[in-house]
Amino acid sequence: MIGIDIERNDRFKDWTDKQITRIFTKTEREYAMKQANPERHLCGFFCVKEALVKALNNQTIEYKKIEVLHTETNMPYIKLSTYVRSLIEPVNATRIDISISHTDEYSTAVVQVI
Ligand SMILES: CC(C)(COP(=O)(O)OP(=O)(O)OC[C@H]1O[C@@H](n2cnc3c(N)ncnc32)[C@H](O)[C@@H]1OP(=O)(O)O)[C@@H](O)C(=O)NCCC(=O)NCCS
Repeated sequence: MIGIDIERNDRFKDWTDKQITRIFTKTEREYAMKQANPERHLCGFFCVKEALVKALNNQTIEYKKIEVLHTETNMPYIKLSTYVRSLIEPVNATRIDISISHTDEYSTAVVQVI
């Protein structure tokens, strides 16, 4: 199954700390804050979470429990937590692949649940 999402980066520029903390994990927030344009990276992570919902056929998920991490070469991946495993095991999947891209205005992500 596959999902895709695209959002405006600006959407995350005026978010309050409370809003950001409700959706993004500490590691995601720290990663974004280290970059020149934090809102782009938050937007990309948000797209991952929305694209995962689509890949799972509109199943409701807790966004804060979906964590995007990066390898040492910066390749993004979703941490396979107990919660994430509980989402994909019912559809006989064991793996999730993701990809993120940004422009000045938009971020997008593709998520494949295999
Ligand atoms: C990986 C790369 C292609 C990203 O492209 P970009 O146009 O700079 O940026 P994009 O906005 O499209 O993509 C950024 C996202 O790519 C993802 N990314 C970064 N490194 C990655 C990697 N090694 N593998 C997969 N995805 C990666 C990240 O998710 C990043 O967003 P995030 O930091 O918010 O998570 C870029 O870093 C690059 O050019 N790497 C070297 C490629 C190369 O060897 N080129 C030589 C040809 S001359």
